Amino acid sequence: MINLCFVCLGNICRSPTAEGVMLRLIEQRGLEGLVQVDSAGTSAYHVGDGADPRSIQTALGRGVELPSRARQFQVEDFDRFDYVLCMDSSNYEALLALSEGYHDEKLHLMLDFEPNGRKGRSVPDPYYGGDRGFEHVLDLCFSSCEGLLEHLVDEHNLVTEKSIIDA
Ligand code: 4NP
Repeated sequence: MINLCFVCLGNICRSPTAEGVMLRLIEQRGLEGLVQVDSAGTSAYHVGDGADPRSIQTALGRGVELPSRARQFQVEDFDRFDYVLCMDSSNYEALLALSEGYHDEKLHLMLDFEPNGRKGRSVPDPYYGGDRGFEHVLDLCFSSCEGLLEHLVDEHNLVTEKSIIDA
């Protein structure tokens, strides 16, 4: 089993969106038994809250449900997860400091897996902006989660019954 954790600041907008999109892609590709997904925030601002209603509405518009409840990333999470995917450089720096050099190889920027030349860039925080920001986050989550899933299938030789039938 490969364990992924998406991380942003509040764990109510960007990382729950990435989690919901990835759950949907995993289901579509029949990878449920092979890849597991969670999300967390670097802050404790919204612990226990559901996803932001604007993120929920935007995602539902494309058939994606956001089931997460906000929690703060803990240092023990580095042991549970194989890939920790940060939405922006500030989340990345916060977890790099928490890792103290022990788990740096697990840390990534999510957009490093985005196939349209956004390597090294950040998913903009939509919290204080308008609806277009939430649409943009959803677009970026779709393209980078598709890229990440391709990477995982190649890197870990993931084979599903669906891919055998399709071949
Ligand atoms: P997120 O967005 O990190 O994508 O969940 C935010 C949510 C809440 C706050 C900031 C960003 N806040 O300051 O409360």
